[in-house]
This record gives sequence, structure tokens and C-alpha cells, in this order.
Amino acid sequence: MCRQKGTKPFYSEDVFGPDLNDEATSGQVSQERCPMTTPIIVGNWKMNGLSADSADRVKALLAALASQPVAGTEIVICPPFTQLALLAPQLKGSPVALGAQNCHMDEKGAHTGDIAPGMLTDLGVTHVILGHSERRRDHGEVDETVREKAVAAAKAGLTPIVCIGETEDQRQSGEAQDTIGWQIKGSLPDGFTGVVAYEPVWAIGTGLAATPEDIQTTVAFIRAELVRQFGESGKTLRILYGGSVDAGNAASILAIPEVAGALVGGASLKPDAFLSIIRAVPAH
Ligand code: PGA
Repeated sequence: MCRQKGTKPFYSEDVFGPDLNDEATSGQVSQERCPMTTPIIVGNWKMNGLSADSADRVKALLAALASQPVAGTEIVICPPFTQLALLAPQLKGSPVALGAQNCHMDEKGAHTGDIAPGMLTDLGVTHVILGHSERRRDHGEVDETVREKAVAAAKAGLTPIVCIGETEDQRQSGEAQDTIGWQIKGSLPDGFTGVVAYEPVWAIGTGLAATPEDIQTTVAFIRAELVRQFGESGKTLRILYGGSVDAGNAASILAIPEVAGALVGGASLKPDAFLSIIRAVPAH
């Protein structure tokens, strides 16, 4: 997607044209979902987890949730593909849903090494992270790819969690909002009913989360863009924050009214830290 400079906003209809969200690429959600207002905490394990430690991690999480249940928060863990089949039976009937970290946009076919959305739902997977900055960086995923995947995921009954966020350079050069605006316009298909995760790239894995003030400002911008793009339904799409969320900062981040939850990387590998984050969700 080429980015043209002009009068703000750069990502206006004039630049993108109406074809981006045409019916051919729009995905309708078939699966029953948690209400849009339900807070959601998502653990992104990234490329971490062998059979034994994954099972242990889930066991610890479920035991803690059994002894001290959490009501009213959607909890999702996204282990690597290789652990999905192993963990699905462990999570079945539990308060923790199973998510994947990526999927292909096709239902099947000649795509060596890829995983189709239907292969995920076949295992009991209900959510999928799409367009994470590490995939955009490592695998050249662009907004259009992400959008097509979001359509395919929704069609298969998965809840897409679409990641957006600016890099340090974009932040320093004052282009954060333009970047995010383009990503929203380009990555979210018409009829999108999934989750948006705002993850400033500079905050991911650095231990330097964005400040609550900055998160509040950016999330307000994202909300305005969602309403601009989707109208009424843009008002209720859930927006998460991700980037160095940990047990220490979760409460102040999750207290921001427009923040519906968190996408948690490193801290989701430690059951105690992940539980603290889950328990930091304010009562709704
Ligand atoms: P982090 O990762 O919590 O380790 O910063 C977040 C993410 O990349 O989703």
C-alpha cells in the first residue's frame, strides 16, 4: 500500500478509494461472541513453549483461576501452532480460550508451512492475532495482507485481534497518528467485529510501556478513526493496549476507560504475572 502525503488525514477516502472494503473482502462473523463490552486479556506466547512447559503453564493458570475465579473478563492464550492441539483439551470447558498467532487468508491449498483458519477452528481455537508488528517486520505483512486474513478468520468463525502501532522512528518524526490511521484504514475490513490491539512497536518487549496519558490520547484517536470508518459499530469495537504490560503497570493501563484490555507478551509466560494482569481488570 503506498502512502501518499497530502492534506491531513493522509489516509482519507480520496487516497484509498472505496475499493478497499468492498463486499468481496468483507467478512461476516458467524460465531457467537462475548459482548463487545467484555474486557479481554490476551496472552501472546510468541515463539515460546515446548510440550511440557506449555502444559505446566496452563495447569498453573487454570488452578489459580479455579481457586479464585475471575468473572466478566475474557481470557485468551495464544501459544505457538505446535501447542494448540496439545492445549485444546486442557482448556476445553475452562475460563480460558485458545487463540493462534497468525493464519493464512485461504481456506486451503498450496501454501507450504501455512495454517488455514479452518484448521484452527478444527482444534477449538476461537481467536487469532493478526498483523502483529513482528509479522509485519519479519514476514513483510502489509495492511492488505492483514485485512484479507481478518476477512478469512472471521468467515471461519474466529475473532481476529488486529494489531496496529507506530515504530520509534514514526513516533519521533511525529507520524504516529498518520501511521495508525493508515493501518486502521488498510487492515480492518468492512464489517469488522473483531478486536483492535494498539501496540506501539517501541514498547514491545522493551520494558518501556507507553504512559497511561499517551495511551489515552492514542486510543481516543483510534476510537475516532474507527467511528469514521465504521460509523455506529466503530463505537463499540474493543481496543486493547499491548507493549510491556506487566503486573506492575497493568492496573493503571486497564483503568483507562477506553482500554478494553491488554495484549500481553513476555508477562503471559509467567502464570503469576499473567494472573495479576487478569486480576487488574477493573470491575465493570
Ligand atoms: P510484550 O509483547 O508484552 O512482551 O511487550 C506484547 C506483544 O508483542 O504482543
